[in-house]
Amino acid sequence: MNQLIIFDTTLRDGEQSPGASMTKDEKVRIAKMLERMRVDVIEAGFPIASPGDFEAVRAVARAVKDSIVCGLARAADADIDRAGEALKEAAAGRIHTFIATSPIHMKMKLRMEPDQVLERAVEAVHRARRWTDDVEFSAEDAGRSELDFLCRITEAVIAAGARTINIPDTVGYNVPDQFAHTIRNLIERVPNADKAIFSVHCHNDLGLAVANSLAAVLAGARQVECTINGLGERAGNASLEEIVMTVRTRRDVFQLETGIDTTQIVPASRLVSNITGFPVQPNKAIVGANAFAHESGIHQDGVLKHRETYEIMRAEDVGWNTNRMVLGKHSGRNAFRTRMDELGVSFSSEEELNDAFARFKALADKKHEIYDEDLQALVTDANLAAVNERVKLRYLRVCSETGETPNAQVTLALDGVEHNAAAQGGGPVDAAFKAIESILQTGTDLLLYSVNNITSGTDSQGEVTVRVAKGGRIVNGQGADTDIVIASAKAYINALNKVLQPSEREHPQLL
Ligand code: KIV
Ligand code: ZN
Repeated sequence: MNQLIIFDTTLRDGEQSPGASMTKDEKVRIAKMLERMRVDVIEAGFPIASPGDFEAVRAVARAVKDSIVCGLARAADADIDRAGEALKEAAAGRIHTFIATSPIHMKMKLRMEPDQVLERAVEAVHRARRWTDDVEFSAEDAGRSELDFLCRITEAVIAAGARTINIPDTVGYNVPDQFAHTIRNLIERVPNADKAIFSVHCHNDLGLAVANSLAAVLAGARQVECTINGLGERAGNASLEEIVMTVRTRRDVFQLETGIDTTQIVPASRLVSNITGFPVQPNKAIVGANAFAHESGIHQDGVLKHRETYEIMRAEDVGWNTNRMVLGKHSGRNAFRTRMDELGVSFSSEEELNDAFARFKALADKKHEIYDEDLQALVTDANLAAVNERVKLRYLRVCSETGETPNAQVTLALDGVEHNAAAQGGGPVDAAFKAIESILQTGTDLLLYSVNNITSGTDSQGEVTVRVAKGGRIVNGQGADTDIVIASAKAYINALNKVLQPSEREHPQLL
């Protein structure tokens, strides 16, 4: 009972953030990183959402050996069977089934009476138990549900075989005292509560996801559902790094342990940010660039005299400063393959390895010290190039000079046919984007453009994220290169490629 289970839902709820969708390979890379971090449960996706989602959950289930792999399913036979199929090859698989329990969701969304919801929940748990003993039940919108009904449904699903009961604050409406009260009452009032682990899943609409989760832990919850960087629907989920580091730093308050290897936190944060294109704000707790930077003279003086004057955690304990040079231009194929393997990246053929190695050599010619972050960006870039099926960047030339209007010339291959365009713009990136759009005519709106350096120094690769919208659909694009104008063009083309692809995915909570 002094163990807090960390359930990561970056690959499922995190992926529900507009624009954060991940490919199968990207999900496997993040899952391997979470496994290395010793996350207890990895929620890999919602298998019935689309054939691609099913394959991604199956691939994660095959790749991960040390963490439980979980698939989400609504309380419906087809969803549960699809999740069961996807998890068949997992070393340890969990089916997570859910149905809404709040009056507003039952009446307006499900159009069901509470007794029908209870009956459906029990049937769903029975069905999931045909596939695995490890079944989790969530009462969606529990944060706005009536406590008496929550107690009734919880007792019924535990009796049906659910081993974990998850209480989500789906819309981020609760405040810590109130949420703790719900958890405490459930544990006290449900007669068979001792047969299950109570879990919480909080959204951050009022910025209280972590506070609510931790209040629930103090009230008896022993599993927290969270995501790297707090990624997730709308304002996101509780952030894994904040939960884990609070419980560890304030052992005196929580008297609990997690199994997490905290030195993997910063690398995991970077990987998720790099893959999804969601930058981490500099002042974000634990993983923001300024989280351990002491700017003011008074603080610096104090930290130099005695670190604990201003630091409650050590930067190295969460994986900062581990950014060491790993490879250089003289490194051979074996060293490259070994390091990639350690980063959880495997190559399906010699040809794929050779391609990646050639890209690594090209980068090492431009940039002498290659860090893990560079290697991760190299793989992301290659994966993106593979999904950039319709549009490819063939050539880009930009001119910017004092006193002159910047201009760009671009050649794109669209469905294999080359097109050229030139445009002027407010700056070289603006000119390049205008030239690209003049060929593709997508009519998208650019919502966000951001550049981050992957490592330090002016020879660092720039990592660019763009977010574009078209007809209510929002997608992100990323690109990395030592030349930030080229990185920007790659990111823009990546986003436009996604816009050009139809999206056929179902959202778990929209039924
Ligand atoms: O927020 C929520 O209620 C969910 C459930 C599906 C667990 O994500
Ligand atoms: Zn959620």
